[in-house]
Amino acid sequence: MVTAASTRPLGVGIIGAGVISGVYMKNMPLFAGLSLRGCADMRPDAARAQAAAHGTEPMTVDAMLASPDIDMILNLTVPNAHFAVSHAALTAGKHVFSEKPLCTNVADGRRLVAEAEQRGLLLGCAPDTFLGAGGRLARQMIDDGRVGRIVAGSAFLMSRGMEHWHPDPEFFFKPGGGPILDLGPYYLGALVNLLGPIARVQAQGSIGYAERIITAPGPRTGERIKVETPTTVTALLQFTCGAQVSLAMSWDVHRHSHPGIELYGTEGSLRVPDPNFFGGIVEFTEQAGDWQTADSASLAFGKPNWRSPSWPASRPDQANYRCLGLAEMARSLQHGTPHRSSGRLALHVLEAMFAILTAAETGVACDVEMAIDRPPALEEAEAGLLFA
Ligand SMILES: NC(=O)c1ccc[n+]([C@@H]2O[C@H](COP(=O)([O-])OP(=O)(O)OC[C@H]3O[C@@H](n4cnc5c(N)ncnc54)[C@H](O)[C@@H]3O)[C@@H](O)[C@H]2O)c1
Repeated sequence: MVTAASTRPLGVGIIGAGVISGVYMKNMPLFAGLSLRGCADMRPDAARAQAAAHGTEPMTVDAMLASPDIDMILNLTVPNAHFAVSHAALTAGKHVFSEKPLCTNVADGRRLVAEAEQRGLLLGCAPDTFLGAGGRLARQMIDDGRVGRIVAGSAFLMSRGMEHWHPDPEFFFKPGGGPILDLGPYYLGALVNLLGPIARVQAQGSIGYAERIITAPGPRTGERIKVETPTTVTALLQFTCGAQVSLAMSWDVHRHSHPGIELYGTEGSLRVPDPNFFGGIVEFTEQAGDWQTADSASLAFGKPNWRSPSWPASRPDQANYRCLGLAEMARSLQHGTPHRSSGRLALHVLEAMFAILTAAETGVACDVEMAIDRPPALEEAEAGLLFA
């Protein structure tokens, strides 16, 4: 196991060689302290193809967990497999960074956090986007008091769904998927980083379409998926700091014109960049003045570097620095710096998401039991040290 005093690169093994693994493998050489050692998947052909494309070793999961060269497991499996894969990796003595959500129920989330803490291992979880340039700039403006004390806000993520771009989108429409568990982590993670913990929620939910038809190219094109989880959820979040934020997340909306996250403070208003990405423009006002802009592109991890193949030419590139949270966790292990994109933060967000889903089902407001502190701000100088 690597201890805080060690500065050799940490050996990383990826489990889950699907859609998102490509950008992680492409980005990893950008970061300090990480050395990709192998790639595994329950589908050996997928592991072989991704390993060949990115110059690493295809491995079985068992061989990866037994390998002394691998210090950290990057869990990029589907949400319903997150708990089993992360738990097996922790039990094998590996540090773990998981894609979001941490797992698909709160009891398992608590087990993962406890397992890591008992073993003295680090558990990290996406989203790490709040550590990107746009998230850091928004955080700095709030911490500097530019818009005063935040009283209220709104957060919207609404689209037509996933079946038109993801070749295997079934998990999005089953329990463990849905817009709250799939995309809520970005919005709630960003809000908790800016405002601190969520204390209580109210919510409503519905299923907009009973069935989805896969139109993305691939072996499943034309297949029908029965929708078994709410695809439109609206919630009211009460933060411990006193702020109240209305949240709407839906895959039943063709078009809308709401900004992603808008916060209203005693001295002005703030628009936070899209928390799906790492850069972007912060917009703010001084009291009722005009909107002003602050671009994060010149800050570390703010420069646009990526575009989705499904985007129209008119849509600009975005900053996509997936692996940032993994590198921040490696730095924490190597240098004893704070671990911000942590399993504890992800567990608080998971508890808040299940409180929203329970409140939507029962119509009764739900408390979020586990309180946490805001992660310490990541300053520009420390962020710069995460580059290779
Ligand atoms: N696709 C995206 O754009 C995107 C973006 C951000 C986050 N994510 C997250 O990344 C994760 C993976 O998403 P994806 O789109 O790459 O999914 P995917 O279905 O394309 O890939 C998942 C891979 O995990 C493998 N797998 C599943 N269970 C496994 C197990 N028990 N052991 C070993 N391998 C297993 C599957 O065979 C598959 O190859 C999800 O948590 C998702 O929420 C995806």
